[in-house]
Amino acid sequence: MPKLKIFVGTMYGGALDVAEQVKPLFEEVGHEVVILENPTLEDLAAADTDLALFCVSTTGSGDYPGSFASFAQAIAEKSPGLGSLRYGLIALGDSSYGDTFCGAGRQLDELLEGQGAQRLGERLEIDAMETFMADDAAIPWVEEWIESQQLKVA
Ligand SMILES: Cc1cc2nc3c(=O)[nH]c(=O)nc-3n(C[C@H](O)[C@H](O)[C@H](O)COP(=O)(O)O)c2cc1C
Repeated sequence: MPKLKIFVGTMYGGALDVAEQVKPLFEEVGHEVVILENPTLEDLAAADTDLALFCVSTTGSGDYPGSFASFAQAIAEKSPGLGSLRYGLIALGDSSYGDTFCGAGRQLDELLEGQGAQRLGERLEIDAMETFMADDAAIPWVEEWIESQQLKVA
């Protein structure tokens, strides 16, 4: 069974809630799903990581939340090389923060691309100004992502 790792960066739990809500959608189509709340570079660089979903909110002024900051720093500093990684990205933010809207998700996307990883489809950006419950945007996006990227294995 292929494995999907969901890497979470959250301050208040919204991004974790998204991860938990979309997990069964992947399980229904044949993936084993692991949610990583405090991901490490080892989780990402492990040989069994070929498909990943990142659910990351933004804090401060375009910053990574909590322990996700040291995870991203480790990717940048250790340059693991992620040529075999395919990933999707769900960024949570709030457009009232202006230029730093979804800053963490956008930075992460650049970082992963710079390591040779391949993003499948477009990044989803969920704006708290427009979407009260992030799941309402994430669930249909994931359903469409599974279809369009042919991620059904069962
Ligand atoms: C102190 C603070 C700073 C924030 N800074 C930003 C920001 O710079 N850019 C942005 O898009 N959203 C910002 N947000 C909004 C959060 O990213 C948004 O509310 C998100 O849904 C929180 O997700 P979480 O529950 O996973 O932490 C900030 C929120 C707080 C409380």
